[in-house]
Amino acid sequence: ARIRRYKWEAKYEYKSPDCYKKLVITINGRSPGPTIRATQGDTVIVELKNNLLTENLAIHWHRIRQIGTPWFDGSEGVTQCPILPGDTFTYEFVVDRAGTYLYHAHYGMQRDAGLYGSIRVALPDGKSEPFSYDYDRSIILTDWYHKSSYEQATGLSSIPFVWVGEPQSLLIQGKGRFNCSLPSVGAGLCNATSPECSPYVLTVVSGKTYRLRIGSLTSLSALSFEIEGHNMTVVEADGHFVEPFVVTRLFIYSGETYSVLVTANQDPSRNYWSTSKVVSRNSTTPNGLAIFNYYPNHPKKLPPTIPPRGPIWNDVGPRLNQSLALKSHRNFIQPPPKTSNRVIVLLNTQNRVNGNVRWSVNNVSYNHPHTPYLISLKENLQNSFDQTPPPEGYDDSNYDIYSVAPNVNGTTSNSIYRLQFNSTVDIILQNANSMNNNTSETHPWHLHGHDFWVLGHGKGKFNRSTDPKNYDLISPIMKNTVPVHPYGWTALRFRADNPGAWAFHCHIESHFFMGMGVVFEQGIDRVGKLPSSIYGCGDTKGLLRP
Ligand code: C2O
Ligand code: CU
Repeated sequence: ARIRRYKWEAKYEYKSPDCYKKLVITINGRSPGPTIRATQGDTVIVELKNNLLTENLAIHWHRIRQIGTPWFDGSEGVTQCPILPGDTFTYEFVVDRAGTYLYHAHYGMQRDAGLYGSIRVALPDGKSEPFSYDYDRSIILTDWYHKSSYEQATGLSSIPFVWVGEPQSLLIQGKGRFNCSLPSVGAGLCNATSPECSPYVLTVVSGKTYRLRIGSLTSLSALSFEIEGHNMTVVEADGHFVEPFVVTRLFIYSGETYSVLVTANQDPSRNYWSTSKVVSRNSTTPNGLAIFNYYPNHPKKLPPTIPPRGPIWNDVGPRLNQSLALKSHRNFIQPPPKTSNRVIVLLNTQNRVNGNVRWSVNNVSYNHPHTPYLISLKENLQNSFDQTPPPEGYDDSNYDIYSVAPNVNGTTSNSIYRLQFNSTVDIILQNANSMNNNTSETHPWHLHGHDFWVLGHGKGKFNRSTDPKNYDLISPIMKNTVPVHPYGWTALRFRADNPGAWAFHCHIESHFFMGMGVVFEQGIDRVGKLPSSIYGCGDTKGLLRP
């Protein structure tokens, strides 16, 4: 195994990813940041300098389990103190499994500002995937706002509430296109001919098969992705091989990664469109556009057709069907434990708390403590967070998930779920109506430090006595981000076998910021000595003696 060493500098710079100039957080001058490449078993070391001048920072290595290094998970408030402006922090972790991973900021709403990238971990020599392809490409899909993440965060926590609204554009591998001729655009801010916003081009050779590793790190949007005239065969989801199935549109939620195989088998004398479109919200955001370029056509030659418009935004059926179609590849099944020790039901609610609009589970909205949990747990600082356990469920015999709750008041808390080490835990994500009539949103939930089995998805209210009978305990897919569809439920199971404190939250940046998350603790007594670099904030000041 090798050591992969990176030296990164994060700073704000003016960039125009969709032709509109704004301050973007770059890593070594780039957004998306550099791709980390490694082979299974390697150690990755990232020496990160915070040159943001006035903002703190933390980076999360999305989907890396951090076994034995829970302190380098990068979730500020949970596993570390923030990295202060001017400071350098070194992350060091082992990439123990091959696959497609992401990284992104995990402080405030900075992911929105452009701090994200990919991690590609190759299989060791002599091992191969259960499918073949000629070339391998990575694409990250995002949505893009012109307001700064600081302004968005301030609006979300203001009274009256200022919602972030729909994004201005969709980016494909960091490139999009905003309509600079709109009258609302100030002079000098938008340059339609800037090379920074020329569409992303994926060049292919006729007859060859491409593995596209597609990840979504949208701030808000659920997306449908397609390549005009080409089918895609889904072969990997969140790093796990799936029993292959063919789609014309891939639905992808923030925090998910998929590999699809695409064969360049159409008329090679022209180029094709590749598009991303917002689904699940009635969005005003124009579709993202990229060019699927057949060599040797000029990469900038526009396809002769109108770009595909994509699916209807509110048709949940095909999205639920894709969730149901995802099964573990038959040769790579890791069967789940047949029973669980504990069932926690998390009702996704929107609430009003002290005049603020918040997202919650079971009417409790999450707040970061001043002291990261990992440190307060390990140092036994009982006053650093609320020690009362959070609710295990909601009043499911009386709660009407199809209506606005008669009482939308909620509370905030920083209490956590303490799981018995090595126990098996079931989580039922139950969706419901938000505070607006006839509205239920899609929430992609992401678990740090673990993968989980997806045991089932259903419509309506989860029934504790009948629905578990239909769980897939034979070949469920393992993931670490999973959507709960509008007015539906999702059941997942995991082993609490990774000592540490781990966030579990909706991957929509504004939803997590508004409290849509929880934290799980397990096996804290087995956590090794914490590195001094994660200390420095809240009640950890002064804890480090020379
Ligand atoms: Cu990719 Cu806690 O997030
Ligand atoms: Cu959400």
